[in-house]
Amino acid sequence: MEKNNRDAAFLQVGNKLLDWYKKNARDLPFRQTKDPYKIWICEIVFQQTRINQGLNHYNNFIKRFPDVQTLAAAEEDEVLLYWKGLGYYSRAINIHKAARQIMNEYQGTFPSEYDEILKLKGVGKYTAAAVSSICFGGRMPAVDGNFYRVLSRVFADDFDISNSRAFVYFSELANLVMPENVGDFNQAMMDLGSEICKPKNPLCGVCPLNKDCLAFSLNKISEFPVKTKKVKTENLDLTYYFVHRNGQFLIQQRKDDFIWKKLFEFLPAISAELEPFIKSSKTISHKLTHKNVNIEIYDVEVDSETVWNDFTAQNEYLITDLEGFHHKSFPKPLENYVQNSLKD
Ligand code: ADE
Repeated sequence: MEKNNRDAAFLQVGNKLLDWYKKNARDLPFRQTKDPYKIWICEIVFQQTRINQGLNHYNNFIKRFPDVQTLAAAEEDEVLLYWKGLGYYSRAINIHKAARQIMNEYQGTFPSEYDEILKLKGVGKYTAAAVSSICFGGRMPAVDGNFYRVLSRVFADDFDISNSRAFVYFSELANLVMPENVGDFNQAMMDLGSEICKPKNPLCGVCPLNKDCLAFSLNKISEFPVKTKKVKTENLDLTYYFVHRNGQFLIQQRKDDFIWKKLFEFLPAISAELEPFIKSSKTISHKLTHKNVNIEIYDVEVDSETVWNDFTAQNEYLITDLEGFHHKSFPKPLENYVQNSLKD
């Protein structure tokens, strides 16, 4: 194919997608605005969380922190609390840091250039491309798993998405397909990828690109995208002691260096004087993205006031009750554990 014809063929795919989006865009609250603060928050929330699961959290978050000034002025613990249920808490810690960065380095005005947005804490190429294209007319494709899937299928392209060059490769392909309105194109890709060109059971019959889709015409949709390397899943064993007395229990805050950054947890160890109070233990399995976590929790009911007073006086653990628990963020399995063991 001659170069111009070839370019036109690529572009036709992008324009068809855009036409489909104009008629079928999902009606989402963050689509009523071009406020970069709100778009940034929505991109961070919905990068790893499905729209249905995260929409209430997003709305509550924006209600409490409607702008970058309010977010920067808040305490980190409160930001974590509003993130409760969304998981991947380092995202919340980073957006809080980035809000302060915007106040300090950009006088409170959200940066408008892709390269500047990329400098914000926790913002990667996908988020920078999404915010700059949706809010400021930037011309970068917001390449993520949706792009890999849609483009590899449409062009029956077997480039391995586990290859470290996949991002650059599919960005170049996206550039060929991309029409004038990049903000809408990026969001069209997100909608098509999550509603129609799904990883499993894609709805090819109603796809606006089915006449252009090579994998579909070859009946090979399930072969794309090609991914050779599986990400290894590690096992992680944790032990906790749930030390409690009369509805009160002991906790501490995690550091921000490993999983569950800055969330609260039970005691990872106890001293000998508490061992006689161990009543039972329970093992819980919990899956994180690349980890299988096995948690053994010992129930330590201290039915001696003297021992309780001595232990709490000698150690710097926080004492909380159910009321205090509801105002703190815990890893999901520990949260479930408290709710089951302290329900009246
Ligand atoms: N997922 C992440 N960002 C999105 C957006 N802007 N539109 C639809 N889905 C999304």
